[in-house]
Amino acid sequence: MYIVTRALTFIRGFVMSYGPSSIKRRLWDKEFSGGKWNFIDNTVGDCVYPHLEKYARNGSILDLGCGPGNTATELSDAAYRNYIGVDISEEALGKAAKRTEATGRTHKNRFAQGDFLNYQTADQFDVVLFRESMYHVPLGKIKPVLKHYSEYLKDGGVFIVRMYLAMNGKNKFRPTKMVQIIENNFDVLEKGEYGGKRAATVIVFRPKVAKASR
Ligand SMILES: C[S@@+](CC[C@H](N)C(=O)[O-])C[C@H]1O[C@@H](n2cnc3c(N)ncnc32)[C@H](O)[C@@H]1O
Repeated sequence: MYIVTRALTFIRGFVMSYGPSSIKRRLWDKEFSGGKWNFIDNTVGDCVYPHLEKYARNGSILDLGCGPGNTATELSDAAYRNYIGVDISEEALGKAAKRTEATGRTHKNRFAQGDFLNYQTADQFDVVLFRESMYHVPLGKIKPVLKHYSEYLKDGGVFIVRMYLAMNGKNKFRPTKMVQIIENNFDVLEKGEYGGKRAATVIVFRPKVAKASR
């Protein structure tokens, strides 16, 4: 039974990273409508918020894999002026829209359904956020995806990534590798590590500045 559960978890994870957008969308919609993700609905006081408040500069945020609208409704209203949340799941976005209305933020929060592996927008942002969503970017696509979103950063803009890197003191392979790719290819400004049974890491970084040739 244990082996079957492990195999199914692996297949689910594989499809959610490497599958076609239409299948990923169906899987996420099923999980959100079935209540599997209800437990993330209240994340007030999360460790990512102080980092977001510092770098949003009362400006704009692109939230990739925004889910049911936690950042859009829990982040201090004074911390940002404009927000776009992108998610593959219509179910999650439906929740995010309802919560946005309930918190009176419809004038500043917008949402779009799409796959963050190829989402495009004409806007530029102070922060591009992957909060508990980078797990679903294939390892080989971390660099090209971040390069793509670098084009959407304003001058001085940053990426913020929040992920659980360890469980019960043991490092998780893919998230740890993702952070290594980030550290090897970008300028890291902050790395906050928040302990506990599941250890969360928040990493703030931006594209390397090209050195002027002499
Ligand atoms: C664990 S939830 C995190 C939600 C939210 N960021 C938070 O921290 O509360 C991961 C989210 O990423 C979204 N997601 C996964 N793969 C995606 C993809 N390829 N494109 C857009 N959204 C995706 C899922 O639908 C889900 O809402």
